[in-house]
Amino acid sequence: MTNGRITGNVPAAPGHFILSIALPATFQEPSFGQFVMVRNLLNGKAMLSRPFSVYGFHRDAHQSALELLCRVAGRETKLLSGLKAGAGVEVLGPLGNGFTIRKDVDRIILAAGGVGVAPLSFFLKERAKYPSKAAVSLFLGAKNGEIASALVKGLSDTCAVHIATDDGSLGFHGPVTEILAAELYSCDFERTRILACGPTPMTRALARLLADKPIDCQVSLEERMACGVGACLGCVVPVRNSHGDAMYKRVCKDGPVFDLRELLWD
Ligand SMILES: Cc1cc2nc3c(=O)[nH]c(=O)nc-3n(C[C@H](O)[C@H](O)[C@H](O)COP(=O)(O)OP(=O)(O)OC[C@H]3O[C@@H](n4cnc5c(N)ncnc54)[C@H](O)[C@@H]3O)c2cc1C
Ligand code: FES
Repeated sequence: MTNGRITGNVPAAPGHFILSIALPATFQEPSFGQFVMVRNLLNGKAMLSRPFSVYGFHRDAHQSALELLCRVAGRETKLLSGLKAGAGVEVLGPLGNGFTIRKDVDRIILAAGGVGVAPLSFFLKERAKYPSKAAVSLFLGAKNGEIASALVKGLSDTCAVHIATDDGSLGFHGPVTEILAAELYSCDFERTRILACGPTPMTRALARLLADKPIDCQVSLEERMACGVGACLGCVVPVRNSHGDAMYKRVCKDGPVFDLRELLWD
């Protein structure tokens, strides 16, 4: 665990906020798709660590600055949403494997559900560091237009952005996988990669959509986590290994990014 200090806590949309955390300059630089475990240090009360994807990272000679895009889901995220500048947190990471960008693709489709946009935004912000010259487009599904607008703020300068909302208040009215399905008609599957992050219903819908299509898709899973480092087995998911046998993998240590085809859903 590394001690960090909150330097900013900015509301992004109802129930969503962006946390900025100052860390030592020696904190390891994360790659996109990696996550950190964050523990709130509130007056000695027992707080639990929670996983968050890296949303932004900068370093200068004196310190590192980590950004997280967070949604209030329950107790710990509610407490984090109330932290003021100067509050202390513990940060473990960067953890997990992250996404892989290959050079031999012409097109990268980013598919996000809600705050699943966080690691994909980190890629868009850091894109110059990755060797790919592929055209990139982002498909985001969100509850409503206010949240969707906040989640894609600044991203339309970096790629084409397509929005779907549950209530139809912005973009397509319905699941993001439906606008993605329409987009796939114009794709050369061999030369396209999909990178996805979102809640389980979106990931399942993506698996159904791509089941009969020879297209590579890496997906970051949002499984519940306790230790974050592979010790408690609290985050295992069923997968099929290269021999076709079913087995379990730990999302925190073996993931959170998996090849969509290796995941077992039943
Ligand atoms: C690798 C990874 C990266 C993540 N990145 C982000 C991020 O960038 N921004 C963000 O806001 N959230 C992210 N999450 C989800 C976040 O960790 C949970 O929302 C958080 O742990 C909930 O803690 P809580 O104490 O507030 O809620 P709890 O009281 O623990 O749970 C409240 C509700 O949220 C559900 N929940 C809890 N944990 C998860 C989870 N991991 N995934 C989905 N539902 C959950 C519970 O089932 C319950 O319904 C990520 C999760 C993982 C595994
Ligand atoms: S959270 Fe403990 S093994 Fe993954």
